[in-house]
Amino acid sequence: MRIAVLKERAPGESRVAITPETVKTFAALGATIAIEEGAGVTASISDEAYREAGAEVVSGPKAVEGADIVLGVQAPDVMALAGAKPGAWVAATFDPFRNGELVEAYAKGGFEALSMEFMPRITRAQSMDVLSSQSNLAGYKAVLTAANEYGRAFPMMMTAAGTVQAAKVFVMGVGVAGLQAIATAKRLGAQVSATDVRSATKEQIQSLGAKPVFVEEVAGIEGEGSGGYATEMSEEYQKAQAELVSSHIAKQDIVITTALIPGRPAPKLISDAQIATMKPGSVIFDLAVAQGGNVEGSQPDQTVEKHGVKIVGYSNTAGHLAADASALFARNLFNFLSAFWDKEAGKPVLDEEIGDAVRLTQGGKVVNERLAG
Ligand code: NAI
Repeated sequence: MRIAVLKERAPGESRVAITPETVKTFAALGATIAIEEGAGVTASISDEAYREAGAEVVSGPKAVEGADIVLGVQAPDVMALAGAKPGAWVAATFDPFRNGELVEAYAKGGFEALSMEFMPRITRAQSMDVLSSQSNLAGYKAVLTAANEYGRAFPMMMTAAGTVQAAKVFVMGVGVAGLQAIATAKRLGAQVSATDVRSATKEQIQSLGAKPVFVEEVAGIEGEGSGGYATEMSEEYQKAQAELVSSHIAKQDIVITTALIPGRPAPKLISDAQIATMKPGSVIFDLAVAQGGNVEGSQPDQTVEKHGVKIVGYSNTAGHLAADASALFARNLFNFLSAFWDKEAGKPVLDEEIGDAVRLTQGGKVVNERLAG
């Protein structure tokens, strides 16, 4: 069983899908590991550290030669897989709803694409879930970045020269990233409030010491769809939410938006007119900017200034914490493959519940039911 890891080729991708720690744990299962030279540099992992852990460090894309499994953060182009075994597995993120051509190319190339974003939200898969591990770090980084862009302090400070008021932070979307954003803003001393369409989050917000801000008057609303994800809300709800947010947002200093709906563009939560009601010097961090954005006018990797408000968002927020993001991503991949490791076969054998959920392509075809039609 040969596992290969290429240097990430997507622009701005700083993470790597394997660490010296998981080189050792894969080797303990009997795998040999080949890593492209320099693959870990942007995540502060040297070739030497990989070698010491027992990996072969190979120059250029030759690293995939003879591979049974290729690991990636972002799935490589099929061309980069030349030399891998026929039918090799590639476990990585594929962004499958937006990357139809890439998925087709994997099918044509005879590879088995395993999309880590499609990991089911079940208890036993929690440790394999890259969306959670990366979102958690992204929520933290979003708050730190907003704090950096903000020309005032977060905590209340009583000084001899007078009192500095605590910043008011509003988190929109309380999934994994939002919860970490709330916790981080609280640690920095801000006054925090938060909202979501899933009513289950109300208690979670309160348990972190923040104030829930929810649409109450629209009857029969439960924004939770399958697998714990949000659904798209009715027009009536969206209108009520916009009104509620408008009155709240005008009093906030920092807004962190994290709202996502799988397979759909990110819901628009903040309009230009609402930005205009905010105080000059306020900061909005749009964590959904790479999925179309929650905030009107937000641009990936740019600071946009509108009505005196700074709007910030990264195309790859977790990539700004490349070392930790890689360590957690690599563990997710190890937890996934090792959970299915068949000692006799010397390779992983996936079960139906998780295998069918993550597998996009097999035997020359696109086989995932979420991509059907
Ligand atoms: P996500 O990244 O898909 O979305 C972020 C948040 O935005 C969600 O809380 C969602 O409800 C919210 N949202 C969507 N539309 C909105 C709107 N119009 N206004 C306000 N908020 C809106 O969500 P994430 O972080 O992936 O988590 C969703 C749920 O899944 C959580 O309950 C989480 O604990 C659970 N989960 C379970 C896992 C497991 O059991 N293996 C793994 C990961 C998450």
